[in-house]
Amino acid sequence: MKGLILSGGEGTRLRPITHTNAKQLVPVANKPILFYCIESIKRAGITDIGIVVGSTKDEIKAAVGDGSNWGIDVTYIEQDAPRGLAHAVLISENFLKDEPFVMYLGDNLITGGITDFVKEFTQNGSNSQILLAKVSNPQQFGVAELSHGRVVKLEEKPKEPKSDLALVGVYMFDKNIFKAVKNIKPSWRNELEITDAIQYMIDKGFNVQSHIINGWWKDTGKLEDMLEANRMVLDTLTTEINGFVDSNSKVEFKVVISKGAEVINSIIRGPAIIGSNTKIINSFIGPFTSIEHDVIVEESEIEHSIVLEYSVINGIKGRIEDSLIGKNVEVSASPLKPKAYRFMLGDSSKVGIL
Ligand code: TTP
Repeated sequence: MKGLILSGGEGTRLRPITHTNAKQLVPVANKPILFYCIESIKRAGITDIGIVVGSTKDEIKAAVGDGSNWGIDVTYIEQDAPRGLAHAVLISENFLKDEPFVMYLGDNLITGGITDFVKEFTQNGSNSQILLAKVSNPQQFGVAELSHGRVVKLEEKPKEPKSDLALVGVYMFDKNIFKAVKNIKPSWRNELEITDAIQYMIDKGFNVQSHIINGWWKDTGKLEDMLEANRMVLDTLTTEINGFVDSNSKVEFKVVISKGAEVINSIIRGPAIIGSNTKIINSFIGPFTSIEHDVIVEESEIEHSIVLEYSVINGIKGRIEDSLIGKNVEVSASPLKPKAYRFMLGDSSKVGIL
């Protein structure tokens, strides 16, 4: 059994962060989403893993390397453009050969792991198995229609859904998927769709089974989803103070303070994580906040947010919330006179001001 992680794509919905960063490397509780995905494949007993990469390949390769940190073997497969999930399978045939594999979208977070899902596939003798979750808004997902557990039809964002079971970004396939990805045509958005490939398998009489997820999952394509994923993972933390907290500071509820971090005259109300060598001075860090390493937060209040490394937040009067702040960003109070907002914002930035 092999693993295939999809880490290409454009990440248009997370711009401007994705102008300069791979979305799969945006951290949730200070760990890249992609690492959770690698860990859950490894936990399912799979160590031979292909990673499909696109324009952010250098960054992904630098972060994951040869996989030896996890005890896995990584093969990188380059996709020239995001031509669809089924295209990613098509270009991975040389790596996958005849072996069954689990395909995992590198921007999806699944807290319960995939071990049972993989085990079930190896036991039920099916040609494909898809992971499904009950959702309240199936119109916004790929939706599966089932008959006795077997998948009979897949529909992409149906106006009148036949079920409330949405496709989660993890799939199992045997070698018959290659016939499908070679025979389907690009969709209206000019991508080879994995739903079309699976539907092709169903139409040709192959056995496509389903597995309904019991834990929590999130496709972290958008800011709100990133923040929600961050909330879910932070909530599982247990307090661990490895940095310095002075006697004027208060650390409440589940808080991780990493090595070399300093908390001076501040309140940290968890769940929250403060990265290594980060300084929190005369500030309030509220629930569901992840602050990466080497950040300075001074005379400011921030909650329900993610702050990436080497950023500085200083002297902000209103509380910052629901924010994703990139690397090397500076958010600081303007000089008093003349009274003005002063910005240098990249393309596709979003700013909310009082
Ligand atoms: P998507 O979120 O569907 O696409 P995207 O990353 O291009 O994002 P956006 O819609 O915001 O522009 O992709 C799901 C995962 O699959 C993600 O990790 C990227 C990866 N992917 C590929 O590796 N190759 C592809 O051709 C596509 C479409 C996605």
